[in-house]
Amino acid sequence: MARFGILTGGGDCPGLNAVIRAVVRKGINRYGHAIVGYRDGWRGVLDNRVTYLTPDNTSGILHRGGTILGSSRTNPFKEEKGVEQVRESLAAENIEALIAVGGEDTLGVADKLQSEGVNTVGVPKTIDNDLAATDFTFGFNTAVEICTEAVDRLHTTAESHNRVIVLEVMGRHAGWIAAYAGIAGGADAILVPEEPFDIEEVCDHIRHRHRKGRTFSIVVVAEGARPADSSETAQQSEVDAFGHVRLGGIGVALEHEIEQRTGFETRATILGHLQRGGSPTAFDRMLATRFGIAAIDAAHEGDFGKMVALQGNNIVRVPLREAVGTLKTLDPALYEVAEVFFG
Ligand code: F6P
Repeated sequence: MARFGILTGGGDCPGLNAVIRAVVRKGINRYGHAIVGYRDGWRGVLDNRVTYLTPDNTSGILHRGGTILGSSRTNPFKEEKGVEQVRESLAAENIEALIAVGGEDTLGVADKLQSEGVNTVGVPKTIDNDLAATDFTFGFNTAVEICTEAVDRLHTTAESHNRVIVLEVMGRHAGWIAAYAGIAGGADAILVPEEPFDIEEVCDHIRHRHRKGRTFSIVVVAEGARPADSSETAQQSEVDAFGHVRLGGIGVALEHEIEQRTGFETRATILGHLQRGGSPTAFDRMLATRFGIAAIDAAHEGDFGKMVALQGNNIVRVPLREAVGTLKTLDPALYEVAEVFFG
């Protein structure tokens, strides 16, 4: 019997609790290990704040959004004596390995710790779906469902009022959510970080539609999208422990520009954290459960420094390093599909 730790780091997303439940259920019931939950991501490891997880106290959480462990964007490598503190905390609980559930930042820390001799296993999570080495991260499917429903709802009100409506969705470096929800919802233009846009071209799409007799348009924009002639998308200049600025505001900027240039009444809707809250879809519950099982299997076998990943329909293990080196940006072929429907 061994003792394994688990933490959830970075932005929360639907499905985190399903991972925790799967790790606990198989880890304790099948393998006889102990599972120690760290509170608030790496913050809880630094402060040695733990919850002893059991099948009982993780029962009934499969369908719940968020994370029962809490999360943070703390980076131990940015704290004085951070790595030392991590080692001390894990030693105090006699932890053999830590299962880190997170995106690029959280797993980047796990990878660095592994090279310093701290055993880790990674589980990929982010609604942005921008993590390399896995076809999908859990949370993404739920976010896409929420955004697609928003596009559907915005369609009927845009049509009633002959308006252009701009929907701003999440996607810091990658336009996966914008592209999927935009295509699924039938958006008339989709703007993503990977394809800097020309505002006049966007207005032309809208004018073209209106010439054809349509009286409304829907534009879906990822928060990280930017005009070709500017790199300014940040709303505020403050950065987190991983150096990310807080994004947002592109939707409102587009609202003004489109209305001024085309003369069509325009409104912006920013979905924000609605995309991260609430119950996971069945797809995300499945994926998160399979990831949790695969993670505890890897820990049990002592296969550390790995991330579990979805490739095709198989759950595989890849070196953590492969997942954190580069971001998985939007497939250009998918953007070409989206473009067919612009204007
Ligand atoms: O990384 C996931 C994400 O939801 C991004 O899409 C978004 O830019 C960011 O987190 C928002 O972070 P926070 O919740 O800290 O404002």
